[in-house]
Parts: sequence; structure tokens; C-alpha cells
Amino acid sequence: MKRLFNDGWKFWKSEYGTGYETAVKSADKFTSVEIPHDWMIEDPHNLYGTNTGWYSNRFEVVNPDKKTFLIFDGIYMDSIVYINGQEAGEWKNGYTQFVLDVSDYVKKGENDIYVGVRCRYPSSRWYSGAGIYRNVWIDELDDTYIPENGIYVHSKKMGKDYKLTLQAEILGTKAEKAEVLYRLFDDENREVDLIGGKEISFFINDPKLWSPENPNLYKLEVILSIDGRCIQKKKINIGFKDLKLDSAEGLFVNGEHIKLQGVCIHHDLGALGVAFNKNAMRRRLCQFKELGVNAIRLTHNVYAPELLDLADEMGFFIISEAFDMWEKAKTEYDYAQFWRDFHEKDTESWVKRDRNHVSVIMWSIGNEIYDTHASVRGVEITKELRGLVEKFDPLKNALVTSGSNYMPWENAQKCADELEVVGYNYAERLYEKHHDKHPDWIIYGSETYSLVHSRNIYHFPLGEKILMDTDLQCSSLGNSTTGWGAESFEYAICNDRDLKYSLGQFVWTGYDYIGEPTPYQTKNSYFGLIDTAGFNKDAYYVWKSAWVSCEKDPFVHVFPYWDFNEGQCIDVRVASNCSKVELFLNGKSLGAQKLSNKPGSGNHILADYSVIYEKGTLEAVAYDEAGNIIARDERKSFGDVASLKIKADAENTFGDLVFAEISAFDADGNPVENANNYVHVSVKGGKLIGLDNGDSTDYDSYRADTRRLFGGKLLAIVKADKEGAPVKVDAMLSQKIDIRTIKLFSEKGQKLSPDVKSTVVTAEIFPASAPMQKLKFRVLNRKGKDTKLAQVSADGNRAIITALGDGYFKIRCEAYNGADSAKVISELDFVAEGIGGNVADGTEKELRTYTEILAPDADSIYGDSFLRLNDIIQGIGNNVTVGFGILDFGDKGANSIVITGRAIKGANTIHLRFYDEKSGKEERELLEFPEKQDYASITFDIGNRSGKWDVSFIFLPGSYFDFMSFKFME
Ligand code: GAL
Repeated sequence: MKRLFNDGWKFWKSEYGTGYETAVKSADKFTSVEIPHDWMIEDPHNLYGTNTGWYSNRFEVVNPDKKTFLIFDGIYMDSIVYINGQEAGEWKNGYTQFVLDVSDYVKKGENDIYVGVRCRYPSSRWYSGAGIYRNVWIDELDDTYIPENGIYVHSKKMGKDYKLTLQAEILGTKAEKAEVLYRLFDDENREVDLIGGKEISFFINDPKLWSPENPNLYKLEVILSIDGRCIQKKKINIGFKDLKLDSAEGLFVNGEHIKLQGVCIHHDLGALGVAFNKNAMRRRLCQFKELGVNAIRLTHNVYAPELLDLADEMGFFIISEAFDMWEKAKTEYDYAQFWRDFHEKDTESWVKRDRNHVSVIMWSIGNEIYDTHASVRGVEITKELRGLVEKFDPLKNALVTSGSNYMPWENAQKCADELEVVGYNYAERLYEKHHDKHPDWIIYGSETYSLVHSRNIYHFPLGEKILMDTDLQCSSLGNSTTGWGAESFEYAICNDRDLKYSLGQFVWTGYDYIGEPTPYQTKNSYFGLIDTAGFNKDAYYVWKSAWVSCEKDPFVHVFPYWDFNEGQCIDVRVASNCSKVELFLNGKSLGAQKLSNKPGSGNHILADYSVIYEKGTLEAVAYDEAGNIIARDERKSFGDVASLKIKADAENTFGDLVFAEISAFDADGNPVENANNYVHVSVKGGKLIGLDNGDSTDYDSYRADTRRLFGGKLLAIVKADKEGAPVKVDAMLSQKIDIRTIKLFSEKGQKLSPDVKSTVVTAEIFPASAPMQKLKFRVLNRKGKDTKLAQVSADGNRAIITALGDGYFKIRCEAYNGADSAKVISELDFVAEGIGGNVADGTEKELRTYTEILAPDADSIYGDSFLRLNDIIQGIGNNVTVGFGILDFGDKGANSIVITGRAIKGANTIHLRFYDEKSGKEERELLEFPEKQDYASITFDIGNRSGKWDVSFIFLPGSYFDFMSFKFME
């Protein structure tokens, strides 16, 4: 019988390299922990580290003549197991399930177990967590048995019927004598069929089909017996679906054409770290359902088996992915070091575990695998992996794919030829060309989008791409874009929507995850449509407008929130799945706009308005074709926080977990959407297991009982003492108050002229009771760069602004609330006219195109790993963009570039990106810098490049480059 073995574990986090003997002698250092367990999440200041974690426990064996197996669903990573003092086995992969036959090591009665987890940093491009972070099981079986994952189910449509093929692997001494009986039950538990045999096929007449909309499941019971005695029973869910993937027509599910409306995810669960919790995952999937998601790509590793169960039950297509690297590493201590000896075992474990899930439609053998690009060895490994997948899924329950960012290159294209479905990461621009050249390729966007956004943070104006700012946050307007990702919401949504042959796309990412905090070096990612706490960002509604039909759930969403400076120009955006929307400010219409949210209808999927802020109500309404109002949304100006409200999910939705959303309100009952108060949370009838606000810059503990609101919200996760029993959550505002907002007022208006060259801007802080602090005044241009168009002389909360030249500038006032980065930003627009003077506004740049430019002189560097030294950018790794702003190549143009650098870990690919902001045109040169142990200058031909271009160098995952300088040559 298979039983859970999560109780009774003790844990000791020791120095890396601590061996078994030392662990045994250190019993006093072990403390009790709950499995699944993630030791890294305890301290947000130390989310990465090098340690050996030791776990110990005991277990009973009643009958040592039986076979005893231990099943670990996931240990991160490189684990070793000792039973009664003997080494029983080890497993290197941090994500695949491993089944250990410990029959030879156990004795009757109590047995000792120690599990050592040898975690080295860095081993991953994202937050991996560490420890036994998924379930552990014990399975005691007769000496003849069906092994874990030993059942294989396949169904195929034949006319109206489905041919069901069932196989059971039987091991052990009496395998020949054993008999297998299969019983099939429908969703109402009615027995549909009963049939015997180890390998059989039979027909099911007109079954209820599975689809994301109608996830109908059947239960299969497999009974193993010898001489009429039942010795093992297994139960699994299965489903029937008819899938057709067509290279010209796209995807058909049970005869109906649909698009994959997919999201990519990572495996952490925010405040809970990577310790798997089915209920926390269920909450996420419920949010995905509401967003219209019908497919999930499990990036970039094997997930907890319960997630696949949920996908079957709730209706999501799954791309099950195995690897983020093969032989060539992406980080120093990653799985590449174990590839040679373990990839076969891991592929077997992966495919056998996931192959019967009706939700799984693709096997992704890798993400952005450098080997597929570096040499023909990539093709060999692709073939090998496809062969291995087919060995364990010979009837093709799912098709072999990969997610590639190397598709412009020949080697990657040769690998694509070996796949059944070709996944493109951030390469919509190639679809048309590749579709013409390879009409047999079935293609889709395995990874797209990668806009970055922080919930309730807005950096104006919308018309400027503002990736980074002093608050270490990203704007939610849709103007915070990365070098490799989509340039806008519109681009990401419409490109794929309007292309019939693409199966659909997988947005990076559905949820924020810990790690990869591009473009900063903070804590969590900014990519998610939902933040780590589970609060929807504006981007969620933009995607919902494309993914949920108006007929199903008409809605409208207006953003940003409504709390700015009187007279400030605000870009207001309205997202809706309805055909027409209209915006009102304090009851006055600002105009209606038609939206093109149907395929092929154009790119106007958001209604944009430029609004001068005045206090009051911003309301958006949406109309149906007949002009009736069918949805409304409003944002109201708000004051300081007066109260908190707690909203919890309906009883029992998430089993023993309660997710309590705490929101701040002002004295008039309006939500305070930029509230940042500390809140103390207390719980009765349960245990507070996590507090999170989704803020990537907040390193407060997830485990404390007091935490800040971010964007007016905080999430408390409570584990009920008893499932279903009432839980009481209280939230109290703390006495500690910080500045929430600053209101700017210019005494002489916002237009400066020869008559009124100066004005006084006062900054009023809210709440007024917040301790006064030094406010920072700055004069900025539209791009948010300091400009000399005006002079500012500040004294406390007053600043004298004097125009020095003509043009637009804005006055910004920042408060830091004791932190190193700005926590509150307030801005007011100004125009100076008739002043004259030839003053630089900060956007001009010295033309230096044909000189040697040092890499560290870049305008911006962002990404996960790099070190900016004086004369070099060192150790450029995962997704780094080095931008130099606009260079003028003149009429004659440049024909080559000389790059000086070093690639000590093998050839390094560099994307040289030329971007024209006005036209949105983007072109790339792909430069292959050869392996060099010493600095070298390499010349690359770049065709002819004339005119003005914004130039940047993009280094993708898998890069390792030391960048010294470059020089364009005429
Ligand atoms: C992709 C990569 C992802 C993530 C993403 C960020 O290139 O596959 O793992 O790094 O970029 O945009």
C-alpha cells in the first residue's frame, strides 16, 4: 500500500559538504519540520546559498519479506539517501520523481532514514528553493507488482468510438502468473467496462470527451491478482480527447478550432516558497481560469504530480517540460554537470509519470538549449531525447517539442526538423518566413510577451518606454518593455491572435515568481500578470480582454488608479472585451472608442485617453453592439487610510488553506490603492503561514505577523487547525506611518514664460502625520532623464523652479521612507515658452558612433547577472541587455562592428539590436563570439546600417561573456 510519509521529519541546515557521519552525530541540531519543506524561503535576504541540508526520520516495516519503496516527488537538488546507516541511493535532478527500492536495506520494526541535500549556488536561473519540497511516500508491495508509473493508457478516436489501449508493467518473480483486471468508471461512478489482460485494447462507445471547457474524466482501476488473490490496486484518472495539430490550420480539439491561450509559470508559490501545496496551486489555477487561460507551459522543469491532476480536473492543456539545459550549463552548478549519467533516467521518470494525464499535449525536451545552437551535437541530443520520449510514450499521448530562442540559426532549425511541434521563444517576426520555408512545421509561441509591471505602479508618459526608475519598480501602463520581449500589449496579443496557423502562445508569465527580477537586482520577477501574492495587475485585464469573450463575461477595466496631482497629465487606458467603451471624468464624457478585440480586426485593443487629473471619479463603461451598457468600472480619488477590510475565499474552496486579502480604505469607503501602511495580522482557529504583498523590493519575512501593504493590499495565508472549521483573521493598522503620497502644487501654474520664469512648487505629504523627511526634487524630461531646461532650488517641502530654456519638463518629488530606493514618486508637467536659450533637455547624445565605446559606458544595463566594473562588464549571464541609446550611422552607414571581449566558457551568441522608436522597427544581427580565454577583438560583418538607431546588445540565458568595448566601422 502506498502511503504518505510526510510526518515526523527533522532537519538540520549544515555547511556544504557535511557528511552522513557528522549528521548522525549532530542529532541535537535537528529541528522538526513539515514536509513539503523549503529551507531557503525562511529568510528573504538569503534566498540563495550553498548548504547541505540533512533530513532524518524513522519508519516502520511490518513485513520485511515484502518489497519496500520510497518515492520522493521532488528534492532540490542532488540528494543522497541512507537507510539504517547504509547508502541506499542518490538522485541528482531537483525536479523529477525518484523511486528507490530500499527492500535490501530495511529490517522488521523501526528503520532509520537520513536524506542529505547538497545544494550549491548557483544552480538555477530562478529561485529554486531547497530541500524535500514535495511529498514523500512509502509503498509496500508483494514481490510481484506493478511499479510506480507502470500503467500506460492511450486512447484514439475511431469514428464515434474511442479505442482504449491499456498496458500494465508487471515485475517480480511471479509476473508470468499474475493477472490484471481493468475497471472503468464514468464521472458518476458508474462502471462502464471491465476487462482483463496485461495489454489490451477495446472500444468505448461515444465517451464524454475531455476539453478545457468540459474536463470530463473517467476513473480507471487496475487490479493485480495472483491465483485469484488481489495483491495490488491502482486508480488513475483518464480522459478522451481528439486532438489535431495542423501546420496550416492550427489546433482542433474535439473537432473545434481553438487557440492555446497559455501562460508559462515557475514552481514557487510566493510566500510558501517552493514547498508544494495543492490548495495554493488550485487558487492560482482558479485565477487562470477566470483570465481565460486554457494551457500552461510548465517551465522549465518537471512539476509536482498534483498539478497535473489539477489540470486534468479543472481543464488546462499542459506542456510538460523537462530541461532548461543539456550538456552545456547555464549556471555553474546546474544539472548540466550530471547530464551525461542521469538524463536517461530523468527522461524515463518524467515521461512515465506524466504520460497518462489527458491534459498533457506536448513533451518539451528543453528550453532555450544552447546545445541546439552551438553545434550539430544539438541535433544528436534532440534525436536521442525524442527517441527516449517515444520509448516511454510509444503511442504518442503527447508530441515532442521544445522552446527555442535560437530559431534564426541553422543548427536550431535542424533540431526543429526532428521535433513534432516547433516552439518559438520571442520570435513572432520569424513565423511568416519559416512557415513559408517549412510548411510542414507546426508552430506556436512557446514563450512570448515578457513585459514587466509592478501592481499599481505607473510611470508616465505611456508614449515613452520607461524600463527602469528610481523606485526599482516597473510601470503597469504597458510602457515597461524588455529588449527581447514584446514591444507592447498590442504587439503580443494581436500578432498571434491573427495568425491562423500558430497554435497559440504562452505568455511569460502567468504569475510572478521569486528570482529573475529583470530589470533590477531585487527579489521577484516583474513579468507576471498576477503578482506573487495573487493580486491581479492591470495586464491581467488586458489579456482577459483577448481571452474571454464578451458573450461569456463582459467586463471593462480602467487604469491607472485615480490619485495624482491636480493638473498632471495622466494616460488612462481602458481594457474590455466589448466592442465599444466610453470614459467619463466626473460625469463628463471623454469620448467613446471602438475596440478591435476580434481576430483580424486591427490592433486597437485598448482605448487610450490623455486626461488632465482632477479629483473625483473616473468611470469606464462598455457597450454591446446595440449600444447597451453591459459593463462598468470606476476608479475614485481617495484619501488616507481609515480602515482595513478582509476578504476571504468561500469556505472550503481551498481545503485547509484560507487566503485572506487585506485591503485599505479611506474614511469615505474608497480603496486606497497606493496605501503602504504596516499591518499586524492575528489568527484564531489556524496558523498564519505566510504574508505577502507582491512587492519585489520588500525583503520583510514572509513568516512574520506584520507586513506592509503594497499598492493598498496584503495577503495572509492561513492554515486552518481543521479543514472546514472556522478561522478568524484580524488585521490592525500599525502605529508606524510612512509617506503614502505627495501632492504637488505650483503657485504660478504650469506654463512658464518670459513674464513668469519662476514658480514655487509645494509638496504636501500624506498622511500629514507621517514623519517629515528630506524630499528630493528633480527636473526631468519625458523619458525621465534629468534635464537642464529648468533649475530647482529646494528647501524642505518647497522648491523654486526657474525655467532656463524652452520645452517640456516635469518636476518630480521623491520620498524614500528610509529606504535606498524611492518609495513615493510624484510629478507635475511644465512647459516653458519664449524663454529661448539653447539648453540641452537631456535627450541629446554626443555622436560617437565611430569611436571605440567602452561597454560600462552604456546608458542602461539590466538583467540577472553581470558586474559593471570601470573598464568592463564582467560575467554577463542570464538575459542581460546592454543599451547605448541612439547612435547616428550617417548616410554612408556602418558595415562592420569590432567587439572586444572574452568568452571563456565556449562561443557566446550576442544579439545586436537596432531599434527605431518612432516606427517601432526592430532589426537584429546575430553575432557569434568564438570561445576565447583571453580578451580578443573580433570583427563582424553587419551589412550596411545607416541612419539613427537605438543600439543594444542582448545576451540570452546560457551566456557567459566579459564585455570590454565595441566600435562600428564604416
Ligand atoms: C526567456 C527564458 C525564461 C525567462 C524569460 C524572461 O528567454 O526562457 O526562462 O528567463 O526569458 O523574459
